[in-house]
Amino acid sequence: MGTVISNERLTDGVYHLNVEGDYGGRIGQFYMLRAWGAYPILSRPVSIHAVNDNGIEFLYHVVGEGTELLSRLEQGDAIGLEGPFGNGFPEVEGRVALVGGGIGIAPLLYCARELPNCDVYLGFSREPFRTEEFRSHAAKLTVDVGGLILDSVDFSEYDHVFVCGPHPMLKAAQLKGISAESAGSKTNVYLSLENRMACGIGACLVCSVSCRDGQRKACTDGPVFLAEEVLFHD
Ligand SMILES: Cc1cc2nc3c(=O)[nH]c(=O)nc-3n(C[C@H](O)[C@H](O)[C@H](O)COP(=O)(O)OP(=O)(O)OC[C@H]3O[C@@H](n4cnc5c(N)ncnc54)[C@H](O)[C@@H]3O)c2cc1C
Ligand code: FES
Repeated sequence: MGTVISNERLTDGVYHLNVEGDYGGRIGQFYMLRAWGAYPILSRPVSIHAVNDNGIEFLYHVVGEGTELLSRLEQGDAIGLEGPFGNGFPEVEGRVALVGGGIGIAPLLYCARELPNCDVYLGFSREPFRTEEFRSHAAKLTVDVGGLILDSVDFSEYDHVFVCGPHPMLKAAQLKGISAESAGSKTNVYLSLENRMACGIGACLVCSVSCRDGQRKACTDGPVFLAEEVLFHD
């Protein structure tokens, strides 16, 4: 159990949660959060947004019952945290771009803090949030509102591109990676797939991901996959 330090509403439906306790993890890993009793039955997966001296931070968007209950948390409330889970982004060297769309920026602040000199690209359909927190960690920060943030990224400039965002953005990033490769660049594109999950620990197969080598689990084999491994069916 952790204790809520703060749970601030940033913009419409987006909250920044700071929890006290001895929590950590690698970049791109996630925790299963629970701020209720027996119902809803399942805890909810949320990425590590940042780790600080007092605890751990999350950034979440209210989309349903679980996240709505999280949004009601106040300073001093107890919250259940299990984790960290998942593989996370790999440790890499060379030039790195972090590309986030909407609430997909959540895992990238921790990446920006851990990976010096990365370029950061953040895209929003409406009002941006948490962009200033990236500024001091990014070699270059690009923020787009209302457009397609991937249009601002030249994949061939980077050895590694980490992407988190909505499904169409992940597919587009995969295609950009393929184009960059066929033009001769050696860019590794990593996608964080925030699939629906149930158990979060590899037991239920709800989070199944189609990959070139068969079905894999987003919760234990992922959530981070090399883009070229993933088969998008829609
Ligand atoms: C590894 C991982 C990391 C994540 N990190 C974050 C994060 O940092 N911040 C954040 O805001 N969210 C994150 N998510 C998504 C978050 O877990 C879901 O939004 C949350 O579980 C929804 O719970 P709910 O009870 O509010 O909504 P529900 O009542 O369960 O669902 C409400 C609606 O949202 C849809 N939905 C629920 N979960 C997902 C999902 N995973 N993908 C697409 N649609 C979904 C449902 O289909 C339904 O339409 C992450 C998911 C995964 C798997
Ligand atoms: S969520 Fe149960 S196997 Fe991944």
